[in-house]
Amino acid sequence: MKKIVTLILGFALVISSQFAKADEGMWIPALLTNNYAEMQRLGLTMTPEQVYSINNSSMKDAIVRLGSGFCTGEVISNQGLILTNHHCGYSAIQKLSTTTANHLKNGYWAKTKADEKPAGFSVSFLVKIVDITDQVLGGVSAKATEEERAGVVAEKSAELKKEYSESDAYSVDIKEMFAGNKYFAYVYEVFGDVRLVGNPPESVGKYGGDTDNWMWPRHTGDFSMFRVYASKENKATKDYSVDNIPYTPKHHLPVSLKGVEQGDFAMIWGFPGSTDRYLSSYGVKNATDIDQPARVKIRRTKLDIYEKYQSQDETVDLMYAAKHAQVANYWKYFIGQTRGLKRLNVEGKKRAEEAAFTQWVNSGDAARKAKFGQVLTMYQDAYKVYDEKILAQTYFGEAIYGVEFTRYAAGLSRLRDMYASLDTMESKEAKAAFQVKIDKTIESYKNGLDAQFKDYYQPIDKEVMVAMLTYYVNDIPESLRPAEFNKLLAKYKNNIAKFVDAVFANSMAVDKDKSAAFLNAPSAKALKKDLGVTYAGMMFNYYMSDLQPMFSDAAAKRDLADRLYIDALFQMNPEKAYAPDANSSMRFTYGQVLEYSPGDAMQYKHFTTMKGILEKYQPGDAEFDLPAGFVEAAKSSNYGEYAKEGEDLRVCFLSNNDITGGNSGSPVINGKGELIGLAFDGNWEAMSGDIAFEPELQRTISVDIRYVLWCIDKLAGAKHIVDEMTLAR
Ligand code: ARG
Repeated sequence: MKKIVTLILGFALVISSQFAKADEGMWIPALLTNNYAEMQRLGLTMTPEQVYSINNSSMKDAIVRLGSGFCTGEVISNQGLILTNHHCGYSAIQKLSTTTANHLKNGYWAKTKADEKPAGFSVSFLVKIVDITDQVLGGVSAKATEEERAGVVAEKSAELKKEYSESDAYSVDIKEMFAGNKYFAYVYEVFGDVRLVGNPPESVGKYGGDTDNWMWPRHTGDFSMFRVYASKENKATKDYSVDNIPYTPKHHLPVSLKGVEQGDFAMIWGFPGSTDRYLSSYGVKNATDIDQPARVKIRRTKLDIYEKYQSQDETVDLMYAAKHAQVANYWKYFIGQTRGLKRLNVEGKKRAEEAAFTQWVNSGDAARKAKFGQVLTMYQDAYKVYDEKILAQTYFGEAIYGVEFTRYAAGLSRLRDMYASLDTMESKEAKAAFQVKIDKTIESYKNGLDAQFKDYYQPIDKEVMVAMLTYYVNDIPESLRPAEFNKLLAKYKNNIAKFVDAVFANSMAVDKDKSAAFLNAPSAKALKKDLGVTYAGMMFNYYMSDLQPMFSDAAAKRDLADRLYIDALFQMNPEKAYAPDANSSMRFTYGQVLEYSPGDAMQYKHFTTMKGILEKYQPGDAEFDLPAGFVEAAKSSNYGEYAKEGEDLRVCFLSNNDITGGNSGSPVINGKGELIGLAFDGNWEAMSGDIAFEPELQRTISVDIRYVLWCIDKLAGAKHIVDEMTLAR
């Protein structure tokens, strides 16, 4: 008897390991049929046409891009209701909040459609995806230099972009895949009127804060809701209009109340931003040893300054909530990624792959050797430059432009340059025409004034600038800084605090009233003598004209090496299906609901429950507090249809889908095309995932849709929102 049991068990294991497949790959929807058989085997029961069709309404019509891809959302009612993450709606919610009507802190649910508030971002629906590789590369001759190739690609791309922009509401992305081995056109329809419908209090939507971020077990209700509005004819509009009405979508996802179990099929659709899965060993080393530690150091310092002021004043706290979240998210990300890459020896694994590549090249004919023989040398040459100079570039993004006013002042320095150009013009007509341009620029600055200063707190920015410039001067050699800047600083005896004092005392760019006064009576002179504008302008010019060009040869070498290396991989493993790196274009990933082992002797379950929320609860804590009424609602166990008979309420769950930043807010969909969850994070043990996918470790963390419904219905009492949805029982 015992033997039979073991045999059966053994057999079951063979089967399940066959099914529990490593699910790397963010696949292109237009090529769905390549993966379809396997998806069916794992539990998909829809037809390919029901999933992705460009002629008839299909599931893909329920997936939206937020803005130009900062997050993903999905349509879940026939009135254009959109579900996304709390951390995706965060900035919009914060901007709609004040200390007296603090929707971020207390949550918000519109009672009627009239209470839905303009969100300030657009959503885009995918119209179609077209493989344009042959058109783009058709004109590239075999002997073309890299420069000639790039010229043809750019020209063809521009042509095709125009060709596919059939409507004013369309926006076309030409996407390079596999480092230029393939090209796809993505055509979107953009809806500019999106409104906030509701969100849970921050203590639910960001439960666990930075402590739990990027980690499992997780208990965060990371969701918020918006609505797409359209004209009376159900057409996309560029902006908000009082006359607009809720959009009637081509498709909306039914919401499943049936629950989620280990082994269930799960697919995720959305807009992953960027991955670097084909990165060379040299690139990994550059990231772990040089680039990432610098980012972590700079971000931590910035966060400390934010937090110091935020803790002193509620208004400042709200002003910097979204800025803080943004800096903190990738502060922790880079810590985890460096650790993960090292612990999993990703550099070593890449080196082994490169050795196999070399062997393949050497075992080939003369043509193969000629084509691929230089690839690794190109990487070495390129990374010599990157290793030496990358920090000068990283510090520009993180430290120099990490000071808020600098970007704004750099823009004003362009305006100063426009005035200078005006001066050199001779003809009256040319002058007049250029003046129109200047006036337009000024107008756009006027319009942007509120956005620039609404959440600007000068003492923070000033202190950040002192800290950032101190790092910059200490860590970046003089030869990789603008000579003009070195000279300017010398005027202040290299005393950074003194220099920053002078900038803040003598720049319109750090003060709304001064900026407004200038914009109402603009003059070239005022810009010329503005110290902030002068400083930001010299930094910007150096970046564009000196620093960037230092990398152009190295970048070209690396790009070519990437393209050849991937081409070689295709030839080395003709049977293997390769997925292109994420690049903010619509993709899907499929797999299963699945637990994992985070380390020796440990096993994590694939779901968390209300019990865990209450265990983590710390009244008054900044990260683990709960809103008023939550504990009572939880303890009443009034879960209704949202939990199975006799079970606790499920909160979050895991699946082995392959996602990254930009996928936040993506729907997790079962085999029938119903929504079971909302993806919002990855797990700590696999933070190396954007560079190397680890099938045993990498998981997607999602909110169980039933917890979302409970929060809306039982916690917030906004049942009317749930009633809009199509519930699948
Ligand atoms: N790590 C998540 C992502 O990048 C964001 C989570 C937001 N939550 C937080 N506590 N910061 O998708």
